[in-house]
Amino acid sequence: MKLAIIGTGYVGLITGACFAEFGYETICIDKDEKRVNELNNSKCPFFEPGIEDLLNKHLNKTKLLSFSSSLSNSISNADIIFITVGTPSKRIEGEADLSYVWNVADEISKNINKYCVIVTKSTVPVGTTREVQNIISKKIHEENFDIVSNPEFLREGSAINDFTRPDRVVIGCENKKSEEIMRELYKPLNLIDTQIVVTSIETSEIIKYASNSFLATKISFINQVANLCEKVGADIQDVAQGMGIDKRIGAKFLDAGPGYGGSCFPKDVKAFINTADKNDIDLSILSAVDKFNDGRVVEITNKIISKSNLKKGDSIALLGLSFKPNTDDIRDSTSLKIAKTLNDMNIKIQSYDPVAMKNAKEENPFLVLCSNAYEACNNAKVIIIGTEWNEFRALDFKKINKKKNKLYIFDLRNIYSPKELKELGFDYFGTGK
Ligand code: UGA
Repeated sequence: MKLAIIGTGYVGLITGACFAEFGYETICIDKDEKRVNELNNSKCPFFEPGIEDLLNKHLNKTKLLSFSSSLSNSISNADIIFITVGTPSKRIEGEADLSYVWNVADEISKNINKYCVIVTKSTVPVGTTREVQNIISKKIHEENFDIVSNPEFLREGSAINDFTRPDRVVIGCENKKSEEIMRELYKPLNLIDTQIVVTSIETSEIIKYASNSFLATKISFINQVANLCEKVGADIQDVAQGMGIDKRIGAKFLDAGPGYGGSCFPKDVKAFINTADKNDIDLSILSAVDKFNDGRVVEITNKIISKSNLKKGDSIALLGLSFKPNTDDIRDSTSLKIAKTLNDMNIKIQSYDPVAMKNAKEENPFLVLCSNAYEACNNAKVIIIGTEWNEFRALDFKKINKKKNKLYIFDLRNIYSPKELKELGFDYFGTGK
């Protein structure tokens, strides 16, 4: 089976590399020539554990993977073509910007000359896959292609594992022929008994948004309960544990923190609300999730300022700049939102992140970059643990507080024991504790 993947962002590149790992001849296409050249040299444009090894293996050893900037030369032999281009938020209203999807659909319609299955893998609002079908059928007879929705559920930072060991694969299709082709494609996952959910195209599109929105809801919910815990002297981690043991609730995505960020949840929640509005459906539960999350980082920043009495001229240490560990992605990073507000107050931001410093500095030139967590903490009045990177989990706080000055620590991700840090002389603030 030959595959073509259009768009080499997170989803496209991981999809391409992992399908090559499954043994398929895969070509990934991107109109950005510089990116394609780098990829052909096994250089990944972003940090993701394991991806460069996979690229190297399948570009140079198995030769199953290749990259091209020419769509017209690359898709004519493909049995399955995946659309994995970005669907960013439009500036106003949170509506998804589908212009890349429409352009690619049009390009595909001009360049296929044998039967193939065309798959939307990008996160697209319900109705988009059907519209892609309409665009293509203007030039290609409906017998000569089938359209499928096959959303992706991988997370940044654990993308390869998520792709190769998914909880489920969702296939939205409308006939047996395309269903069989998609089942064949995912056959390598039979070995690990992955559930394949076959449904209509519209249902499949909704599953993706409903899943991300539900996870975001869990996070806003636990963050609101965390606020209540702080007020009444309860502990959110124990509450989450006590709730999560109930299989109907589940333990995952109940970690309180500074609110959800990244390139997906904020954008997808807004886009799902937009879809509901357009269809005159009350999804106000999600509007509350979105509104609370937008305010969450402001609330956390104010807490840091007021509890530590931060003032102009003070220095803080900001540990972790990416929106989550194991990625250099800084899109909608809560750490950087906090940094911007504090910088506006003329506070010096001594920051450290294992991989995201370059990206963070480009957009936030005021950051003072440090070579490790200890250097960032030098003479800082406040330490903020913004991202729960493993290397922040076992810091030697005796080394940090050697002067025994009053030092505040805001552990936004609850990775330390309040008791231990208080005993070491820190004014410790967790989240929801
Ligand atoms: C998310 C979904 O988890 C993936 O299933 C989905 O495929 C992806 O979006 C997408 O649509 O492309 P991702 O954005 O990579 O993945 O990261 P997550 O691990 O889901 O974290 C998102 C945000 O939620 C982060 O800011 C994280 O810190 C926050 N979070 C997560 C919490 O605050 N608490 C939690 O318990 C879990």
